[in-house]
Amino acid sequence: MANSFLVWHEHSVNQKMHAIQKGQRPCVIWFTGLSGSGKSTLANALELALLARNKHSYLLDGDNVRLGLTSDLGFSDADRIENIRRIGEVSRLMVDAGLIVISAFISPFSDERAIAKSLLPKSQFFEIFIDAPLSVCEQRDPKGLYKKARAGEITQFTGIDSAYEVPETPDCVIRTAETSVTSCVDKIIGFLEGQGVLA
Ligand code: PPS
Repeated sequence: MANSFLVWHEHSVNQKMHAIQKGQRPCVIWFTGLSGSGKSTLANALELALLARNKHSYLLDGDNVRLGLTSDLGFSDADRIENIRRIGEVSRLMVDAGLIVISAFISPFSDERAIAKSLLPKSQFFEIFIDAPLSVCEQRDPKGLYKKARAGEITQFTGIDSAYEVPETPDCVIRTAETSVTSCVDKIIGFLEGQGVLA
């Protein structure tokens, strides 16, 4: 394999120096949840809350990333696995650059979430389960995709005819069916404070 000839180079300006320059503890805040569970809404609101605290973040979000970096991928299991593999790597690079990364993807499979997590130390990767029952997501149906999936116009739709593996040991659970956006963001901010990310 050509990869066996590659050699890792340590750069003079490393993650620690990037972090010191930015005055923050870089990490990945990984949102996982069904389509319509509230990932994008909360990720967007969380990023605003981080900005208000003068934190330098970057939001990697499902549809946006799929319009560029992963535009060659669809929604088969194999393509979702590759989608999450790439996003895990990009998230790690962004952490190296000193950023607080919010990665908001369905990321339906436990194994790939575990792989993304394994790329960073425990203290720099937080899995946040954006939890809403399928019935609620389907009722919200912000993009009309559940309706299309039920009508057979979209196949391999998560929760309908493609699996979602519920996280077994997430670092934080946010139940969006019964909690306002503001309260959800407050809970995540409280969690991050507890982890020393916002200290
Ligand atoms: S994954 O499973 O993590 O690779 O998916 P992700 O990259 O987060 O992309 C999810 C968004 O793609 C749209 N979409 C679909 N989702 C699930 N299943 C199928 N078949 C599908 N087709 C298109 C949908 O807008 C998802 O966005 P969210 O924000 O999750 O609703």
